[in-house]
Amino acid sequence: MPVTDTISPTGSTYRVPDPAARPVRTAVRRRLLMCRPRHYDVTYSINPWMNPSHGTDTALALRQWERVRDLYLELGHSVEEISPIEGLPDMVFAANGATVIDGKVFGARFRHAERTAEGPAYLRWFEEHGYQELLWPEHINEGEGDLLTVGRRILAGTGFRTDIRAHAEAQEFFGLPVTSLTLVNPRHYHLDTALAVLSDDEIMYYPEAFTPGSRAALRSLFPDAVIASAEDAAAFGLNAFSDGRHVLLPTAAKGLQAQLRARGFEPIGVELTELLKAGGSVKCCTLELRDR
Ligand code: ARG
Repeated sequence: MPVTDTISPTGSTYRVPDPAARPVRTAVRRRLLMCRPRHYDVTYSINPWMNPSHGTDTALALRQWERVRDLYLELGHSVEEISPIEGLPDMVFAANGATVIDGKVFGARFRHAERTAEGPAYLRWFEEHGYQELLWPEHINEGEGDLLTVGRRILAGTGFRTDIRAHAEAQEFFGLPVTSLTLVNPRHYHLDTALAVLSDDEIMYYPEAFTPGSRAALRSLFPDAVIASAEDAAAFGLNAFSDGRHVLLPTAAKGLQAQLRARGFEPIGVELTELLKAGGSVKCCTLELRDR
């Protein structure tokens, strides 16, 4: 992107994107699957954000979640809902339920016993909604938590949850190139907590969440990516949903919002503070139904 040099009041020179060079962003209407947090709670701990003794407010979680769902509808997206199941408090994190590309459903198989029942529950939803090509996978993968689609490529996380063998399984199933990325920071245990897809060829990410080799791979694939600060990454700012124009992300991620605006996106801050107590936010609650 072209940049102009600007003289700051202190006399130093810094570079800001030239507003005239900002790309015009077009939103693409999406079909999304969400799960109402009716049975949401933090009753166990499978990531460093979760502390069952802190207490959660399910009514507040519901209101915050409804706000996100309403925003999607206001933006013109359609939202399907899967019925929440009692005893599966993390089922609200629909992104983990499967990966859907070209109408093909790659089922999720969870790492922790607390969540294993969610995999078949989500797969059943797809069976009941007319999806014909479904795969119950051999290896552990936590859906779009670790398998992110960027155009016709899949970025796949491993290190904490998804088994690296699931990456090859996904490549065979979808027939799309899969790039493996290794996560190293337990607070960024899923790829969608460290990297977000903005458009068919743009991403934003937090380099420190990855091994040096994965960082180098990301740099070579996406040299112009938006780079998140430690502060924005810690605020879960990368757990974002983009329709190509509007980017929904946690309100607290102020730096990312400014960077997105400078690139012509429209960031929309949302408050999902209750769900953050389970280590989840906007993207975690949202599964994209990429139908054929
Ligand atoms: N408590 C859930 C877990 O640890 C949170 C999942 C968040 N989902 C996501 N797509 N990152 O599995």
